[in-house]
Amino acid sequence: MSDLEDEMDVDVPVSKDITFSAEPPKGKRAADLPVEAEDSLPWVEKYRPVHLSDVSGHHDILATISKFVDSNRLPHLLFYGPPGTGKTSTILALARRIYGHENMRQMVLELNASDDRSIDVVREQIKTFASTKQIFSFAQGPAAAGAGGGGGGGGSGSRLAGFKLIVLDEADAMTNTAQMALRRIMEKYTANARFCIIANYAHKLSPALLSRCTRFRFSPLKEPDIRALVDKVIQEENVRILPDAADALVRLSRGDMRRALNVLQACHASSTPLQPHDAPKVPEEDVVRETITTETIYNCVAAPRPDAIRKILDTLLRTSDVTSCLSTINTLKVTQGLALADIVTALSEEVVKLEVKPEVMISWLDGLATIEHRVASGGGEAVQTGALVGVIRNGVELMG
Ligand SMILES: Nc1ncnc2c1ncn2[C@@H]1O[C@H](COP(=O)(O)OP(=O)(O)OP(=O)(O)O)[C@@H](O)[C@H]1O
Ligand SMILES: [Mg+2]
Repeated sequence: MSDLEDEMDVDVPVSKDITFSAEPPKGKRAADLPVEAEDSLPWVEKYRPVHLSDVSGHHDILATISKFVDSNRLPHLLFYGPPGTGKTSTILALARRIYGHENMRQMVLELNASDDRSIDVVREQIKTFASTKQIFSFAQGPAAAGAGGGGGGGGSGSRLAGFKLIVLDEADAMTNTAQMALRRIMEKYTANARFCIIANYAHKLSPALLSRCTRFRFSPLKEPDIRALVDKVIQEENVRILPDAADALVRLSRGDMRRALNVLQACHASSTPLQPHDAPKVPEEDVVRETITTETIYNCVAAPRPDAIRKILDTLLRTSDVTSCLSTINTLKVTQGLALADIVTALSEEVVKLEVKPEVMISWLDGLATIEHRVASGGGEAVQTGALVGVIRNGVELMG
């Protein structure tokens, strides 16, 4: 959306009335994209929420920001949380709800990490955009017909939408000086503009900036929320997948919707047979695809399979001979292509299910955490695999 900037520093007459409910007709098509682009689109873009009601989960946040908009009291916003949880999608859907699809270009300035957001840009571009007032701020149209937006009702058609929206996506990547420069601008132009700051880590933002915004944390999505969209995509794209495999996909995506959709699309593509170059194009409905199994999903995300983890844990708990433990793990690592970091994560999820004395559990969890840290900071696989055997066996010795 950074191509919007060209038009941002002038007050272009707005062609349609501004109402809080001027939304494009509902449909599965992704916003702003030509119809012919749809087939080749990544599913994350094709299924990006258009309306607030399309955003899965986060019901409290959606209800609150809908209320802000309905009462025309939108504060500066801060959305933060892990990747793929819907922060960017929510603000874009909110902007569409406030200004309508057609007016977004004039009213919203979106800057993300791929744009230059240095101190000069903050001083000039944001300042110019924020300081020009929207003169067509009265909505004269019929009141709020068909307000489909999530949570909030209609009835706000005659209100003012007299502020512009400045979205600073991935703001934790902005330099400190640029963040500092924003502080005064945010206060000075509050009459004309609202800011929405989006970040993965709130602690990387300047505290002064944080205190000017109403904060919303986008937590990792719950499994049923991911399941709902995954099921919809499976149906609309005619994906052949076993129910178990869909369960595994949802579980392995760990609250990240983007990851779930990307893995699903990759598996779907790999289950489609390759056509020779010169062969005539087979119509979509005649393509015979393999069914996606749990194994396909685990292979695609390169996560250790549950049976491999169970085997490793069983061996570690029952075999006192350290050399044979090591060789079992190493054989599994080679045959299944497992990485130690993934084994440690999966093992830590398994050991907490065991019923053991507290001191045993503490020594396991503490030890696994240390190994994870060492692997992440460059520790060698072979030595750390030995340490893993040591940690679990130490705990077993403590059991007495
Ligand atoms: N809550 C959600 N409801 C529906 N779809 C979602 C949701 N969260 C993410 N998605 C899907 O994942 C894609 C990425 O979401 P989005 O760009 O909003 O994530 P984000 O929170 O901004 O992540 P990042 O921190 O990496 O920028 C969207 O295009 C959409 O398809
Ligand atoms: Mg984002």
